[in-house]
Amino acid sequence: MTRTPVAVLISGTGSNLAALLRAAQEPTCPYAVVGVIADREASGLEHARGAGIPIEVVRLADHADRAAWDRALTAAVTRLEPELVVLAGFMKLVGPPLLAAFGGRIINTHPALLPAFPGAHGVRDALAHGVKITGASVIEVDAGVDTGRILAQTAVDVLETDTEDTLHERIKAVEQPLLVDVVRRLAAAR
Ligand code: GRF
Repeated sequence: MTRTPVAVLISGTGSNLAALLRAAQEPTCPYAVVGVIADREASGLEHARGAGIPIEVVRLADHADRAAWDRALTAAVTRLEPELVVLAGFMKLVGPPLLAAFGGRIINTHPALLPAFPGAHGVRDALAHGVKITGASVIEVDAGVDTGRILAQTAVDVLETDTEDTLHERIKAVEQPLLVDVVRRLAAAR
């Protein structure tokens, strides 16, 4: 069985990446993570190193401007020759070059029930608003901020005692299997 090659982009601890890597160890997994790219020396890169998967760090500060970084990021993703690109806690907006090269094949996971609470602080914003239910969304990436087609969602209760961290940890616990399931389904369909 040829596995669908998947590139994963991260910026943080990589718990979603770790979940994708764990699932890829199953013999029947329809995808393989062929590379991990980060915009910084993210701690989550350790998951890729441990699995012997190529990594590359594409720092904004290493490039003349944002457009040059967008091009460098797209070149790094292209070198991996993925069929799917997964943003798993990637904290930058992807620009026109990546959308032109991989549009329709980029997905993102977000720790809120979109269209509510888009952007970089979805958990904090939901908590501050006082919602009683929030959750995680996996979407197709388009040119907007968390505006792409919703592929899957799952809900979690917000507890009176929740802080941003406790709520985010509880969201991550359901977000990871949600993301793995979407990537498996998309990979199997290719
Ligand atoms: C995830 O909850 C993701 O939705 C959000 O940031 C978190 C990243 O966590 N954008 P990790 O790096 O996968 O542990």
